[in-house]
Amino acid sequence: MIDSGYYQATDFTGLDALESSKAPVEVGGKVGIVLPTKDEPRWIQDETRFRDALKAAGYDAEILFSQGSSAKEQENVEALITKGVKVLIICPQDGTAAAAAADAAKKAGIKVISYDRLIRETDAVDYYVTFDSKAVGAQQGQYLVDKATGKGNPLYLYAGAASDNNAFVFFDGAWSVLQPKIADGTFVIKNSSEAVALQGKATLTRDEQAKIIGQVTTNWDFNTAKNLTEANLTSATAADKGNVFVLAPNDGTARAIADSFGSDKDVKSYLVTGQDAEKASIQYIVDGKQAMTVFKDVRTLVKDAIGAAVALLEGKTPTAKGSYNNGKIDVPAIQSPVVSVDKANVKATLIDSGYYQATDFTGIK
Ligand code: GAL
Repeated sequence: MIDSGYYQATDFTGLDALESSKAPVEVGGKVGIVLPTKDEPRWIQDETRFRDALKAAGYDAEILFSQGSSAKEQENVEALITKGVKVLIICPQDGTAAAAAADAAKKAGIKVISYDRLIRETDAVDYYVTFDSKAVGAQQGQYLVDKATGKGNPLYLYAGAASDNNAFVFFDGAWSVLQPKIADGTFVIKNSSEAVALQGKATLTRDEQAKIIGQVTTNWDFNTAKNLTEANLTSATAADKGNVFVLAPNDGTARAIADSFGSDKDVKSYLVTGQDAEKASIQYIVDGKQAMTVFKDVRTLVKDAIGAAVALLEGKTPTAKGSYNNGKIDVPAIQSPVVSVDKANVKATLIDSGYYQATDFTGIK
């Protein structure tokens, strides 16, 4: 009588009690989760946090990995469609290639939640659950700016995978903070002729970003990052080294990049950024090998994704704030904040909050 609009809920008292006595929505078998790869520690964190959160809520949902392959990802989605899921939570391996999988899900009447990475060029995405990725890049850039004194500081830029929309957003955030300090001579870019050619521009188009990313991409891969850094260091002169400032896009690549800078005899000191608060990088920060990371509380992202999925199963509209354009539509976004972490606040942020245990590390008491 109420949901149909025949009467108004405000005409009665006691409806709230009726509402809360309703049986909880059945989640088991109705939500499918697809994550990009087990090869990047970030996604193992997400898997663990998903399992913890699902268990705590008494829910059951399948989690499949695409192992870095868009074809495998498509297979995973097809399998979940066949199983009859109603909501798909998917973090794409390749943001544009995943459009086909999202389209197939939409055709089957499934609601699609793009998780952490945005699926591009399709109208089949209902929600985007994400961190504030521009702030991630801005915090990385700001860290370097805050530590630099004088002029002519050597700056090395590295980026994520060009197939990942986030790589563009992170770079955009970092550029917004670094560019004015490149323009005023505080930093001098040492490893990207494309970035040097564009250094006068405060805001870059996606195509311009793509040119730079194409030159400094790590592909989110440790070995690619290592090889690229070594190649950069081989072609740089001793004068291009000294006390260096390094924009590294995430922790996995940051450790490879830091190791390479650390073993170059002409490098006197190196400040390397990161992201994800991976355990291995927290140890690097404690040991002074990586300068900072950006903590993205995966528990929040998982909670938001599960919350949105359950709301959709209940026929409700998840509360979104703002939107991200995916090249085709504006996707309503549910976004969480990020925290810049270095030696000074690592304990307060990651240990005291219960995210990690002090005993996971050496040197944190
Ligand atoms: C990004 C993600 C980051 C990072 C990276 C590598 O899309 O937002 O947190 O880990 O992928 O997997």
